[in-house]
Amino acid sequence: MVTKTNFSLKNNNTFGIDVKAKQYISVENFEELKHILKRFYTEEIFVLGGGSNMLLTKDISKTVIHINTKGKKIVDEKNNHIIIDADAGEVWHDFVMWTINQGFGGLENLALIPGKVGSAPIQNIGAYGRELKDVFVSCEAIHRQTLALKTFTKQDCKFGYRQSVFKQELKDIYIITKVRFKLTKKHHDLKTDYGAIENELNKMKVSKPQPKDIAQAVIAIRQSKLPDPKQIGNSGSFFKNPIVNKLQFEKLKHQHPNIPHYKIDNNSIKIPAGWLIEQSGLKGYRDGDAGTHDRQALVLVNHGNACGKDILELSKKIQNTVLQNFDIKLSPEVNIF
Ligand code: EPU
Repeated sequence: MVTKTNFSLKNNNTFGIDVKAKQYISVENFEELKHILKRFYTEEIFVLGGGSNMLLTKDISKTVIHINTKGKKIVDEKNNHIIIDADAGEVWHDFVMWTINQGFGGLENLALIPGKVGSAPIQNIGAYGRELKDVFVSCEAIHRQTLALKTFTKQDCKFGYRQSVFKQELKDIYIITKVRFKLTKKHHDLKTDYGAIENELNKMKVSKPQPKDIAQAVIAIRQSKLPDPKQIGNSGSFFKNPIVNKLQFEKLKHQHPNIPHYKIDNNSIKIPAGWLIEQSGLKGYRDGDAGTHDRQALVLVNHGNACGKDILELSKKIQNTVLQNFDIKLSPEVNIF
């Protein structure tokens, strides 16, 4: 356990925002976490994982508990599949590559997503046609007050697009401590129909891809479009892709015949927020050190010394401009504190 006071969180949030935690405690195993929760029983706490999906706009007066519990193990193995448990503090991408390097399939499309294993179920992370829920079996979580451990099945988690029970009715009630995955050993169910993946595999001259080829393709695509938080602060997609109804969509399509879109069902169509922002002339926009990325307008970036409020202001400007131009209200995907 590591305890610090007046501790800068600049290196613990991928936006690289310099706010201070009045008290910061890093917990390295489950017993430490339990002990700390008991000690802070009457106080509100702030749980920090990879800090990759948040915008910090002010100093944090609550005690910050940083989940750094590590461990992963194979808990069952059958002919075709494998069951693996990973602790919440494992770095997501390192865990993905550990499974890929052993030839397991299931996590390849989710390579290089920043963050930690324990945060993955909270917003059902997803990329390139795959979501966490496709390989998720269950997760274990500790109740912040009673300290009771509970196993949540996939059904209990109520996963949706960047959504779960942990963002809704159970927000701030539990801390996820472990996640259980079901991965394939052979007969992998690979998802390559996302346009950019097919192109990348062609470039790589791979015709019968294995999970590792897809992971490699995904890494190449992400590196070409998304800024590396170590070089330029960001939290990935800042907004969710909005869903519009058919009538609204027909209107948009009339004005913009080439509008990219994904059909969700007969009356719901998802529109890429990045496209809406780019069409609004805000791709690569910069105001001081807050900006949008020049290769993916949906990613807001900190060019150096932006504070959380600068990024928040820019996000509001984007929301207003897109609302004026398209009559669509963008909602943040990142959590704002
Ligand atoms: N587009 C533009 N301009 C832009 C950005 C995108 O016109 O500046 C258009 C693209 O041309 C494309 C479409 O929008 O037609 C979709 O773009 P992209 O494939 O980059 O995906 P996205 O919808 O912007 C989502 C996820 C990403 C994930 C990618 C790939 C959300 C909010 N974002 O982005 O997730 O990596 O798909 O699957 O669903 C994240 O959550 O942090 C994240 C990066």
